[in-house]
Amino acid sequence: IAPGDVDLKSYIQDVPDFPKPGILFKDITPLLSAPEAFGAAIDRFAAHFGEKDITAIIAAEARGFIFAAPLALRLGARFVPVRKPGKLPRDTHSFTYELEYGEDTLEMHTDAVQPGDKILLVDDLLATGGTVKACVSIAEQTGASIAGCAFLIELGFLDGRKGLDQYDICSLITY
Ligand code: PRP
Ligand code: MG
Repeated sequence: IAPGDVDLKSYIQDVPDFPKPGILFKDITPLLSAPEAFGAAIDRFAAHFGEKDITAIIAAEARGFIFAAPLALRLGARFVPVRKPGKLPRDTHSFTYELEYGEDTLEMHTDAVQPGDKILLVDDLLATGGTVKACVSIAEQTGASIAGCAFLIELGFLDGRKGLDQYDICSLITY
């Protein structure tokens, strides 16, 4: 199949009642194990953002890393990991956000991004938007500009893109 003809949605497997009853989990591992589909996803992100002079890609562990690393190499941009608390060894910017139950914090090295950078945020999934908005808040602490957000999957019914209207959002698969 030509890369442009790959039906990415057909590589996502629905798993009912995971991780808890009532949740329909979107499993990306069949896509990751099919180079023609994984490659097509990276090709489509690169086609969308290739001319935007992205200098750094910010992505949250763990699943965000999977797409951010190959895309950073393709775009000639720096890969900047955002991690759970206590994982990064030097000075960090951090952001704490509310979850359904409790809260979560993400961190990024303060010297990883500079004010002149043009940032692309990457993740496998846009659901409630909590994770990407935490990454936006962290990126904003650096004074860099955010060029856009790239997601393999967007769950449109959760309205995660609310509040992100000023950014160029590229979602390859929507439900
Ligand atoms: C998942 C997914 C996104 C986030 C999307 O990550 O990889 O990062 O949820 O949901 P949101 O829009 O409601 O924030 P998860 O926290 O499950 O961790 P993982 O990437 O380490 O698997
Ligand atoms: Mg994640």
